Amino acid sequence: MGEKLKIAVQKSGRLKEDSLKILKECGISIDNGKDQLKASAFNFPLEVLYLRNSDIPQYVEDGVADIAIVGENVVIEKQKELEILQKLGFSKCRLAMALPKDVEYNGLEYFNGKRIATSYPNSLQLFLDENNLNCDIHVISGSVEIAPNIGLADGICDLVSSGSTLFKNGLREVEQILKSEACLVANKNISGIKQAILDRLMFRLKSVLAAKNNKYILLNAPNEKVNDIIEVLPGMKSPTIMPLAKEGWSSLHSVINENDFWGVIDQLKLNGAEGILIIPIEKMVL
Ligand code: PRP
Repeated sequence: MGEKLKIAVQKSGRLKEDSLKILKECGISIDNGKDQLKASAFNFPLEVLYLRNSDIPQYVEDGVADIAIVGENVVIEKQKELEILQKLGFSKCRLAMALPKDVEYNGLEYFNGKRIATSYPNSLQLFLDENNLNCDIHVISGSVEIAPNIGLADGICDLVSSGSTLFKNGLREVEQILKSEACLVANKNISGIKQAILDRLMFRLKSVLAAKNNKYILLNAPNEKVNDIIEVLPGMKSPTIMPLAKEGWSSLHSVINENDFWGVIDQLKLNGAEGILIIPIEKMVL
């Protein structure tokens, strides 16, 4: 049996489902048994290790896993020697400081001498040092949001995604410490064959991510407007133009970035574009 690249993903937690989904979008099918902690892909030389989120950076640094899909927040917190290869665009969240909602907050100085509960002591300490603040850090491994309500701390430092956990616990976010999203990380010393497998995986991943960030656009326009429309339609190279059966009209096809979408569409309409269709792209090979 040939060499396989080992990837660690969350055993359980918010990243797990999307991590497996993105591998699937890369055409990798994983043979998962129930409650199995190790599984193999049957159409790609990849072995999947299901590990506890907070252990993943250590396993990758040690080379037990070659690569992993993990939150940037965990990578930063664990301070391990890892390479961040690619941000993956899902599980976006932030590490933030929060206080009981009725507390009057006038700026960072407020935190001096206060007790802060967190599961992210290293990230918090870095932030406090940068801002010359001194706090009493209480490390707890979960349910951090309850700490102020039970008198354990004055405030918290925890991950915020939708903000609903803060809201339900009568807290409000007052400072953002860092932003995070899922990313692909790698051990710094990957060997020849494994590096070649990783290159193949990265190629697929980049195609999948590029497709997510772009849309295929089709529209009809009067021939005399085609040049104006090309000006506002930044295509991969240049748009495809095909004559319509209707005399004096053409169909234009191109690709636009998701972020440019609405701005471009307004300009297209101003230039007489009709029948505009925006279609998702499944893969985009660059
Ligand atoms: C995280 C985090 C917060 C919550 C924030 O916990 O610790 O408690 O999500 O999300 P929200 O802003 O959308 O409410 P998670 O449920 O991922 O589990 P954990 O306690 O294991 O970190």
